[in-house]
Amino acid sequence: MKQVVRDLWVTRLVLAIIRAAKWLSYYLRHSAALSRRYDPTHSQAKIMKQAHTIEKGLSFGRIRPHFGAEKRARLIEEMQNSRAAGDNAAAFAVGAGVLSAYLGWHRDTGETGGDIAALETLVAGFGSSGFGGTVPYRPNYTPEQTAAYNAMVMERRSVRNFRPDPVPLEILRDAIRVATYSPSVCNRQSWAVSIVQNPAKVKAALALQNGNRGFDDTIGNVLVVHADVRGFLDEYEMFEPFVDGGLFSNALVNALNAHNVGSCCLNLCSSHHKVMELAATLELPPGLFPIMMIACGYAADGCRVAMSKRLEPLIFVN
Ligand SMILES: Cc1cc2nc3c(=O)[nH]c(=O)nc-3n(C[C@H](O)[C@H](O)[C@H](O)COP(=O)(O)O)c2cc1C
Repeated sequence: MKQVVRDLWVTRLVLAIIRAAKWLSYYLRHSAALSRRYDPTHSQAKIMKQAHTIEKGLSFGRIRPHFGAEKRARLIEEMQNSRAAGDNAAAFAVGAGVLSAYLGWHRDTGETGGDIAALETLVAGFGSSGFGGTVPYRPNYTPEQTAAYNAMVMERRSVRNFRPDPVPLEILRDAIRVATYSPSVCNRQSWAVSIVQNPAKVKAALALQNGNRGFDDTIGNVLVVHADVRGFLDEYEMFEPFVDGGLFSNALVNALNAHNVGSCCLNLCSSHHKVMELAATLELPPGLFPIMMIACGYAADGCRVAMSKRLEPLIFVN
């Protein structure tokens, strides 16, 4: 009887609405979409967003003198807010670096009219970090390097038979560092990772995920990737946490693979309360939403992996 009710179209509709509403409610609570008060995490995201807009303007083939006046003003305002509260030194340094690169371009091109002199005075007070601006870009990989990269990506497979020993922390940290080079919306990098190696915590985390049965006893290392929802600013960015976190997770499994560490993504398409239970188990601050669990470790002797044949992707050439 219970199953019959569950299978009804109307029941599924109501459940889908409730589940979507739970995400919406979480997003609205932790992102800056509705908040108008100072919040350090929102402020960091705003600094990174505005700094990025100016920095990318400096990377265009044609740069319009004095571009981005409004963005500059918003960046400076937010940097001042953060500085007054004693927060976000790293984002502040990025903002200061971008503004000095912006001024440098204007100096180099002799475009020093308008409000540039006033900006010079203001930015001098920020100190220059060298953490913003542009760098030369001209990849020149050899065919061998391309082939090595392709092989590493194409040979990665999900491992479901691990040696249980811990992966050294420095290797996990290096893979995470590489993953931070993933693209993210406005370079906001709104992600975080839990490294779980304590056996009791590994067990507790795996118990909240439904795709590890049959190989859970071999898993000694779990990474949990979180979307930092506090880094998102508007209602139209509601799904961006999953996009950015997904890109990060993919880079992470490839970076682990490059260290000869096997991994298996474990879905967190669980009920909202289970994800919240996981967040509590990992003692996360509110606003960090776990989006992906990754079992990892060295492959057991004789380990085999599913072939996982790829299908031809749908490609539309316009
Ligand atoms: C978001 C996501 C969730 C996944 N969840 C699970 C899971 O719960 N259990 C599991 O054994 N594999 C899981 N996988 C691994 C996929 O089954 C695997 O990536 C896919 O079959 C392709 O195989 P490959 O990773 O070996 O290339 C997941 C993968 C992704 C990207």
